[in-house]
Amino acid sequence: MPDAESNAATPYERIGGDVAVRALVERFYDLMEMEPSYARLRAVHAPSLASAREKLYLFLSGWLGGPQLYVARYGHPRLRARHLPFAIGSTERDQWLACMHRALVDTGVPDDLAAQLMPAFFQTADWMRNVEG
Ligand code: HEM
Repeated sequence: MPDAESNAATPYERIGGDVAVRALVERFYDLMEMEPSYARLRAVHAPSLASAREKLYLFLSGWLGGPQLYVARYGHPRLRARHLPFAIGSTERDQWLACMHRALVDTGVPDDLAAQLMPAFFQTADWMRNVEG
């Protein structure tokens, strides 16, 4: 019998690897562009989402347990410091989380994996808050 612990797939593997992480991030920013309910979140971003798309993809690869692409290119993410130029309150946090949840659903991530990832996304998004409201 294989040992369940050592054979446990990472979220990166379970989600479907590089192609699936890329698809998730593309869907996330496509939704941010087109859904009025994410307007406050969109407004925090620059007119072009190109660099955000690239960097979130690189970051999530490592964050999900796959290759540390972001760290290899840019070093330690220092996520909270890098988000300080943007006013992020609970509205922006909640829109980020809602947008990500929809992207997970839309790209076919299994429900149990999405349910496992959402609290971890919450922790990270909540830690990025830097204004009241
Ligand atoms: C809480 C709400 C959030 C808001 C409003 C927000 C907004 C932004 C904005 C405006 C940028 C700059 C994009 C650009 O380069 O043009 C950015 C960068 C980034 N965000 Fe967020 N973000 C949020 C949460 C998160 C979370 C939860 C993660 C990770 C799970 C994340 C990961 C990143 C990464 C990796 C970058 C690139 C950092 C860099 O190298 O400059 N963000 N974010």
